Amino acid sequence: EHMPTPFEAIGEEKLAQLIDAFYRRVEQHPELAPIFPADLSETARKQKQFMTQFLGGPPIYTEEHGHPMLRARHMPFQITESRAKAWLACMKEAMDEVGLDGMIREAFFSRLVLTAQHMINSPEKED
Ligand code: HEM
Repeated sequence: EHMPTPFEAIGEEKLAQLIDAFYRRVEQHPELAPIFPADLSETARKQKQFMTQFLGGPPIYTEEHGHPMLRARHMPFQITESRAKAWLACMKEAMDEVGLDGMIREAFFSRLVLTAQHMINSPEKED
C-alpha cells in the first residue's frame, strides 16, 4: 500500500469536472477568451492529460505530446500578470463549483499559482 497521489485523492471524474468548469469560465472571460481557440474541447482534453500527471497520475500528457515545456508552449500567447490572475480566479471558482476543498485543494492551488507566475511572458498591454 502507498499514500494516495493527489490524482487518486481527487479522482479522474472530479478532475474532469474541474477542468470542464474551468474552461466554461475561460471562454466567458473578457481577458482570456481572446487568446484561446473558440472550441476548447481539444484544449480541455490536453489539460486533463496534463493535470493527471501534474497530480502524480500516469504520464498521459507526455506519452501523447512529449515533454510539457509549458513556458515554451505558452510563448505564442501574451501572458500578462493580469491574465495569470484571471486564469487562477477561473480555477478557484471551478474548484468551488465542483466542491474541491481542504488540504488537497490548498496544495494543488499553491502549485498552480507558482506555475501561472512562471508562464508570465509579457508586460501589461497599455491600450
Ligand atoms: C495551453 C493560456 C496557465 C497548462 C494554453 C493555451 C493558452 C493558454 C492560450 C493554448 C490553448 C490551445 O491552443 O489549445 C494560459 C494562460 C495562463 C495559463 C493565460 C495564465 C497564467 C497555465 C497553467 C498551466 C497551463 C498554470 C498548468 C498548470 C496548459 C496546458 C496547455 C495549455 C497543458 C496545452 C498545451 C498543449 O498544446 O499541449 N494555455 N495558460 N496553463 N496550458 Fe495554459
